[in-house]
Amino acid sequence: MGQSINILAIESSCDETSAAIIKDGHVLSNHIATQKMHARYGGVVPEMASRAHMENIVPVVDAALVDSGVKKSELTAIAFTQAPGLIGSLLVGTCFAKSLAQGLNLPLIAVHHMQAHVLAHFIEERKPEFPFMCLTVSGGHTQIVLCRSHLDMEVIGETMDDAAGEAFDKVAKMLGLPYPGGPLVDKYAKEGDPLKFKFPTKEMKDYTFSFSGIKTSVLYFLQAQQKQDPNFVEHNIKDICASVQYSIICMLMTKLEKAAADYGIKHLGIAGGVSANSGLRTALAEAGKKNGWEVYIPKFEYCTDNAAMIGITAYYKYQQGLFTDLSATPSARATWS
Ligand code: KG4
Ligand code: ZN
Repeated sequence: MGQSINILAIESSCDETSAAIIKDGHVLSNHIATQKMHARYGGVVPEMASRAHMENIVPVVDAALVDSGVKKSELTAIAFTQAPGLIGSLLVGTCFAKSLAQGLNLPLIAVHHMQAHVLAHFIEERKPEFPFMCLTVSGGHTQIVLCRSHLDMEVIGETMDDAAGEAFDKVAKMLGLPYPGGPLVDKYAKEGDPLKFKFPTKEMKDYTFSFSGIKTSVLYFLQAQQKQDPNFVEHNIKDICASVQYSIICMLMTKLEKAAADYGIKHLGIAGGVSANSGLRTALAEAGKKNGWEVYIPKFEYCTDNAAMIGITAYYKYQQGLFTDLSATPSARATWS
């Protein structure tokens, strides 16, 4: 029996401070401190996020260690999110991980946040087979990723403007809902008619997404309606939410189905915060039945930002000897590695 691989992983790219312990590819603990104070500003305030990471990082790492039963002296490697994200937020996790690696004399593993969202599917018992295609939809990203193996991934489609989660949140804001509005749009949509209102969307080529159009069409639509009925939103919130959600899901699923057919993919999954959306989950299940796909959706705590997905990615990197030296620096924008 060889020695266990115990990885401490740290995620701090946006507004969640998270730490996880991964033993031989299994999650022993995954702690997440969510920063609630951004809600009242209608979005993440970068400076406040960095400060909150500074406060949260030690307790969160301690909790992950205690919960796992793994001692610091039993760790094999330290992993951290290097990119992309808010630079001040990334700096906190990066500095902490580097110091710990130096202090404990352990190898350091840098992880790409978007690659980790995709590999969150490999935390679960039921793992996808390759080639695997993942639709990653969050507040910051919308990507279709083709995976040939754990670390051989290619982004074949992206958004050219807003991310899907951003579209949900911006529409929610127009409707007077608090940030992040995506989950509330989902809640109202459940009781609304998705075909009540039509919101024109722009046709994009290949697997490219664009969500800025729907935002503008909802804005003009609401302005016109409110001239006739100042309480239009209040009277129609369920149908508006259902119709907006329906349009966003149609855009996502049309591209995903096209990409899967073009590349002959039968194993498909969704990742990122928007994969919590009940309409998207149903649409994926239905498309799966229609097309004979095996579909995968990680548990919710692995869909939103978390360190377990960073740890699982680091586990695959560890096996290939993909370490980073202590001069590593974070990057707000990073090309796919
Ligand atoms: O992955 P995530 O937690 O953070 C990053 O953006 O990286 O995703 C957050 C996004 C927000 O835009 C939020 O509104 C959206 O996911 N979201 C949802 C739902 N739950 C979270 N959007 C639609 N329906 C939901 N149920
Ligand atoms: Zn994310």
